Amino acid sequence: MRIGIVGKGRVGSALAAGWQAAGHEVQLGGRDTMPGASEIAIWADVIVLAVPYAALESIAATIDATGKPVIDCTNPIAMGPDGMGLAVGHTTSGAEQLQAMLPGAHVVKTLNQVGAEVMANTTGFAHAPVQFFAGDDEKAKETVASLLTDLGFEPLDAGGLSKARLLEPFALTWINQAIAQKHGRNWAFGAMPRAVQ
Ligand SMILES: NC(=O)c1ccc[n+]([C@@H]2O[C@H](COP(=O)([O-])OP(=O)(O)OC[C@H]3O[C@@H](n4cnc5c(N)ncnc54)[C@H](OP(=O)(O)O)[C@@H]3O)[C@@H](O)[C@H]2O)c1
Repeated sequence: MRIGIVGKGRVGSALAAGWQAAGHEVQLGGRDTMPGASEIAIWADVIVLAVPYAALESIAATIDATGKPVIDCTNPIAMGPDGMGLAVGHTTSGAEQLQAMLPGAHVVKTLNQVGAEVMANTTGFAHAPVQFFAGDDEKAKETVASLLTDLGFEPLDAGGLSKARLLEPFALTWINQAIAQKHGRNWAFGAMPRAVQ
């Protein structure tokens, strides 16, 4: 599959390496580099936005993502009086805002819930780390679930795109544990169904 990643930072680089290792073709582009976001979007079967939340609007204005899955890795992080929080929530989400900017695309929220270090290397855990995904297009979600599996995650369907309202604060739970609770960045969420009832 041809995966076009916009954003060459920690998340974009980690995902590029993981998917290349799984045999996918990857193009990685950033700001002021070639290929740019618009070329990447034309080339790709799946587009990944691994950029700051604040950059989404300008990038969405330059790409044609019609009919394609668009993975939204961003977190709409903002500083408030109580420290780190979300710029949007409860009645919408960053992912729904992105979907409104790209009405013909199939936005899927995922890969926002753990640090880039875990995305780069999902091994060494007692079982596969979980990664929820949310979106309104079932075919796009199937594609994304398979790409999550290729990275070594256990993909769990969270439902329609409005469930990004749950997944964005969930990311802050990871960040809170990693930083404020001092658990570091080398941990992930796991789903543990009970074997015996
Ligand atoms: N880091 C994590 O562990 C983590 C985990 C989950 C989710 N996230 C989310 O993932 C996103 C990316 O995080 P990150 O840590 O990878 O950030 P990062 O290391 O700062 O990288 C961001 C990348 O986006 C590029 N960029 C910024 N504006 C752009 C634009 N208008 N067009 C194209 N590229 C642009 C930057 O380019 P320049 O180098 O030119 O500035 C940079 O390469 C954020 O929304 C973050 O909240 C991060």
